[in-house]
Amino acid sequence: MNKHKVGIVGWRGMVGSVLIKRMIEEKDFEKFSTFFFSTSQAGDDCPFRFSESNKLLDANNLDDLKKMDIILTCQGSDFTEKVYPKLRDHSWQGHWIDAASFLRMNEDSVIILDPINRNLIDKKLETGNKTWVGGNCTVSLMLLAINGLIKENIVEWVSSMTYQAASGAGANNMRELLKQMGYLHQTVSDLLEDKNGSILEIDQTITNTFQDQSFPKENFLVPLAGSLIPWIDSDLGGGLSKEEWKGHNETLKILDHHYDPIKVDGLCVRIGTMRCHSQALTIKLNQNLSEDDILDKISNGNEWVKVISNNRDETIQNLSPAKVSGKLDILVGRVRKLKLDENIVSLFTIGDQLLWGAAEPLRRILSIITVK
Ligand code: HSE
Repeated sequence: MNKHKVGIVGWRGMVGSVLIKRMIEEKDFEKFSTFFFSTSQAGDDCPFRFSESNKLLDANNLDDLKKMDIILTCQGSDFTEKVYPKLRDHSWQGHWIDAASFLRMNEDSVIILDPINRNLIDKKLETGNKTWVGGNCTVSLMLLAINGLIKENIVEWVSSMTYQAASGAGANNMRELLKQMGYLHQTVSDLLEDKNGSILEIDQTITNTFQDQSFPKENFLVPLAGSLIPWIDSDLGGGLSKEEWKGHNETLKILDHHYDPIKVDGLCVRIGTMRCHSQALTIKLNQNLSEDDILDKISNGNEWVKVISNNRDETIQNLSPAKVSGKLDILVGRVRKLKLDENIVSLFTIGDQLLWGAAEPLRRILSIITVK
């Protein structure tokens, strides 16, 4: 059988690099013939020995792109907006797999998160769907965490308070966060040497430093290190951010509106972590279950969910972005029924935003399509 021809665009960026690393680990490249495209360095040597071509192909060349059975892009929405409609206008019938959000809510796009919506994916594959888009990281991580409750159809609503990492805003923002940390430290490093020095003097120096003309904030616009930013993505008016809007709307699309309509709403906040998004979820169930039952259902949600016991030591040792960074685990802890209502449960969940939040669903849909 001829192997599928897969063209990859945007493999050098942050999500693309995480994706390629995962694909190498899982030996995915043995399953298809891969061609690497570049928007800026076509003709240069390709760095991967498993590439079918030893040169990089031109990602702006429709004729080359059209030869692919599948195009997977992590290049971003601008590239998708420019190239995708032209390919389809030229009757290209291949599969388009995209990390960017541009096509996500289109009628003919499926948001891919196969541990949650494999049935939908299979159904859409059978009926000829060809456009597959990764979901918003926060939504995907939330759904993976409470998969066990959702699939039993017992969730009425979810309120999600997020603690989102710098990586969600991009590689430059991760760099800037570290620069801000370094800048702050450097202004008080002498004062820190003096063990008997005044902490209030240190604090005042830090507060003053936030106002420095040269404080690095080109990307975040404001300090994130030593502070936080309670707004993510654009302003949709009415006090709602686009990131918050996605919580409800992408959830419904991922679940194919098949379940009793789940309502999702919350407040999205950027904090000074590197690549793991955390979320405090308050969940209203449609029945009164014991904490043990709830824990049981959550841990049976999928193979990546790892439940952390709700006590001080386990929590501070094991429930943190530092602990799950670079891993596929979806941590779920602090599970407790709130005293507000017998059907309300709260939990804290953490996942790597670059893995399950971005790269992993893409490599998995590629495997699903190519084994069909
Ligand atoms: N919008 C997310 C964030 C990232 O800014 O953290 C990707 O879905």
